[in-house]
Amino acid sequence: MAVETAPGTRAGQMSSDDIVRLSRQYTLYEWSAQSHVDPIPVDHAKCVYFYTPDGKRYLDFNSQLMSVNIGHGDERVIRAIQDQAAKLAYANPFMAHEPRARLGQKLAQLLPGDLDVSFFTNGGAEANENAIKLARQFTGRHKILARYRSYHGATGQVITATGDPRRWAAETGVSGIVRVPDSHRWAQRDPEPVGESLAAIEEVIMFEGPQTIAGFILEPVVGTNGILIPPDGYMQGVREICDRHGILLIADEVMSGFGRTGEWFAVDHWGVVPDLITLAKGLTASYLPLGAVVMRRAIADAFTDRPFFGGLTYNSHPMGCAAALATIAVYEQDGLVENAKRMGRLMRSHHERMMERHPSVGSGRNIGLFGMLELVRDRAAYEPMAPYNGTSDEMKAVAKSLRDDGLYTFVRWNGIMTNPPLSITEDELAEGFDIIDRALVHADEGVRA
Ligand SMILES: Cc1ncc(COP(=O)(O)O)c(C=O)c1O
Repeated sequence: MAVETAPGTRAGQMSSDDIVRLSRQYTLYEWSAQSHVDPIPVDHAKCVYFYTPDGKRYLDFNSQLMSVNIGHGDERVIRAIQDQAAKLAYANPFMAHEPRARLGQKLAQLLPGDLDVSFFTNGGAEANENAIKLARQFTGRHKILARYRSYHGATGQVITATGDPRRWAAETGVSGIVRVPDSHRWAQRDPEPVGESLAAIEEVIMFEGPQTIAGFILEPVVGTNGILIPPDGYMQGVREICDRHGILLIADEVMSGFGRTGEWFAVDHWGVVPDLITLAKGLTASYLPLGAVVMRRAIADAFTDRPFFGGLTYNSHPMGCAAALATIAVYEQDGLVENAKRMGRLMRSHHERMMERHPSVGSGRNIGLFGMLELVRDRAAYEPMAPYNGTSDEMKAVAKSLRDDGLYTFVRWNGIMTNPPLSITEDELAEGFDIIDRALVHADEGVRA
């Protein structure tokens, strides 16, 4: 098909309009009614910014999918990928190769406790699928505990373990997923008291029969469902309950891992060592697809004399592993985990400033650079500015203003996500909140007098 070059674009380069038109005509967008999608055409990206073919600049306040943690276009990672492609682009999962060997060893060093043995996947969903398989094969039990305010991926078992509305159309009758109450209720600012949350989990375990439960999968800090940060004691309490009943604790750190929360892993905030931890996104900062489930030594040892029933053509892909090693080196060389902690303190003060200036801001939550502003019509009643799984005119106006003003982030239900790359500077953070400040005027109009 001949594609004309629009004014202002390089010869041979598609125009923004053609990129959007053909993408919509020939590809299916996820989680969306196709008539509603309005994608931003993206041409190139550097550090915390990305650009359209027409040169419009966006500040990436969501690190794309909370995943480009090191920022865009880092030459060190690009070079590592190029070098690995030239040397060995692919080897099947039954081989041994240097990127696999080095990455397995490196993750064992970075992760807490004896989380020592990795199984590499293409992304987060597959990491969780395999974590569930490992938990079942290790314990010989079947049931998996999961929470409502959660997302664990779009494939068979894990879309059922997912609690949020993305599950609704996909409930295929996968057996054994059992829901436990959440640490945070919808439309409430504060979490439930730790003792009550833990007692509610205990009760479900009692009703289900602890001897039937293989694992409990949870995001230590919930991501897309609202940056829900558990109170101190919650994760420690969950660990203790799991230990007492022989239930494996599966920490889904696909989003919260790799410095996002100001520690290497979210569980590090509470000194908890899960039995299985799942990783993706920040593992390669999304420069290439790669996920992992990392298990404690005792779990790996159970497969010394019997097989683990699980496999993938792209397990331990050399280019993915090389990208992950280079990405981890960037976190270390640039002190990005420390920067996330430092910038996280600054983010808190920006959130507080937004609350002072805008009656629509019900609360700001963040841990490191994992953050969200929650908008309400009434602070006292804590009535959300949009219903669960819905939107409102005010939230749409906020989203439009952010986009027009060159800030990219997720505006989901009544939340505005604030999850920039961990490499962000003070000035860039302030630039983002200036744009949010202007957008919040639209939400203020929806506040009940
Ligand atoms: C906490 C969590 N788990 C799992 C996944 C699924 O990862 P993927 O999309 O790479 O399959 C996601 C993706 O957003 C996630 O946020």
